[in-house]
Amino acid sequence: MDLDARLEKVAVLGAAGKMGSGIALLLAAEMAKQKIKPENKDRTYALHAIDVSDEALCGLVSYLRPQITKIAEKSIVALREAYKGREDLVENSDIITAFVDEAMSVVRPSSKLESTAGSRLIFEAIIENKDIKIDVLKKLDAICPDAYYLTNTSSIPITVLDEGVGLGGRIIGYHFYNPPAVQKLLELISSKSTLPEVVELGTELAGRLRKKVFLANDIAGFIGNGHFMRDILHATGEVARLSGELGEAGAVYAMNRVSQDYLIRPMGIFQLIDYVGVDVCRFIMQVMTEHIEGETLEDDLLDRMAEAGVMGGQYANGSQKDGILKYEGGRPAGVYDLEKGGYRLFADGDWTAKSDEKLGAMPEGNAAWRALLMDPKKEQKLATYFGNVASSDAFGAGLARTYLVRAKEIADKLVSDGVANSPEDVNGVMTNGFYHLYGPINEYAGLVAAA
Ligand SMILES: NC(=O)c1ccc[n+]([C@@H]2O[C@H](COP(=O)([O-])OP(=O)(O)OC[C@H]3O[C@@H](n4cnc5c(N)ncnc54)[C@H](O)[C@@H]3O)[C@@H](O)[C@H]2O)c1
Repeated sequence: MDLDARLEKVAVLGAAGKMGSGIALLLAAEMAKQKIKPENKDRTYALHAIDVSDEALCGLVSYLRPQITKIAEKSIVALREAYKGREDLVENSDIITAFVDEAMSVVRPSSKLESTAGSRLIFEAIIENKDIKIDVLKKLDAICPDAYYLTNTSSIPITVLDEGVGLGGRIIGYHFYNPPAVQKLLELISSKSTLPEVVELGTELAGRLRKKVFLANDIAGFIGNGHFMRDILHATGEVARLSGELGEAGAVYAMNRVSQDYLIRPMGIFQLIDYVGVDVCRFIMQVMTEHIEGETLEDDLLDRMAEAGVMGGQYANGSQKDGILKYEGGRPAGVYDLEKGGYRLFADGDWTAKSDEKLGAMPEGNAAWRALLMDPKKEQKLATYFGNVASSDAFGAGLARTYLVRAKEIADKLVSDGVANSPEDVNGVMTNGFYHLYGPINEYAGLVAAA
């Protein structure tokens, strides 16, 4: 059965969740594009949007309509061509409405697994829990015995799911990044026995969804989280080291600055932890510890934050919840102080000034991430800046050097452990999925290591 045939009957599990709703959006738009082709007029399309929560599914429907409208607006030229036989559709607004109605008519929200019967492609995006995923997929496989499964797991080895459910290779890791409709990166992970036709189909679909595919091997955490989790542990290790002098909140503030301003990343490491969610990061570390021999990934700071109920994550509308950092207008405005049991605002007192003073002068040539993003001389400017980081005596520059070298070590190990097939794949995931300006395997790390 080819991709077109499989795209007639699709299910998304966890469709009301953060990832599931984005995946459902991409598929509803793709299925509608197929549906309006004259050659597909005899096919029936159904996208089963499954979630345990009926209430959340109502939210999904209200989320999808405006989002599909945006997609239709952006695709107006292609849609006008696709609808050229429809004389009743004159204005752009007629075309957009027709397409949105088509896409919405495909979506079948349900809290009952049984309604997926006959699905041929199943996207799984439920909670990151191996036993629950295996249990749900087993139930589904009894109803949809021919389906291919595309799991969005962030960390669980695909072989564990494949063998746990008994899918015989009808599964592939299909790791979208958040939010799936916007992020271009897709990590594709085969289990020990993923069937070649599943890989082919997953690759073809990724192309249609305009995703940039990077292959990762089936080792817990894969490339993206394999790097990110260890990067977190480096930062929290530095926080522990600096806490005596700067206080824990002051050290978090300092390392957030080092990871954002000094390394010129789009956000600091603690902001990124909040974006993903403190609890999600802890789950991923637990799964990696369970499945990677000889390495324990756990973090005392994250554990204590979670114990205090500090979780981060996002509201349904995508805005950032307070986490390790406090946010005002979407920007960091304070740090949670575990000792005090509340947020210490940047604007209150001189505690951030003490950390800034400790970091010292910023090496020359520094620029904001956004300013360099589209700069044609980005590489040259980064090389000059990191040259200055290498030669600076300032304490902050030293922290940046250690961070840069550690980030490269982590990336090199992902290659030598066989998680990634090449340095280019690690760099590709970190630049496309995390929007770093430069991959962790870079010439700057060598420059600062030699200093
Ligand atoms: N959030 C991210 O940044 C991110 C990025 C990449 C991958 N992932 C992975 O995607 C998956 C989903 O993560 P999320 O952040 O969207 O979580 P989420 O909590 O936002 O969504 C999970 C959804 O699954 C539903 N659900 C739970 N159990 C279910 C069941 N038995 N049957 C049907 N629905 C069920 C929940 O009601 C919820 O709506 C996880 O495997 C996660 O690791 C998350």
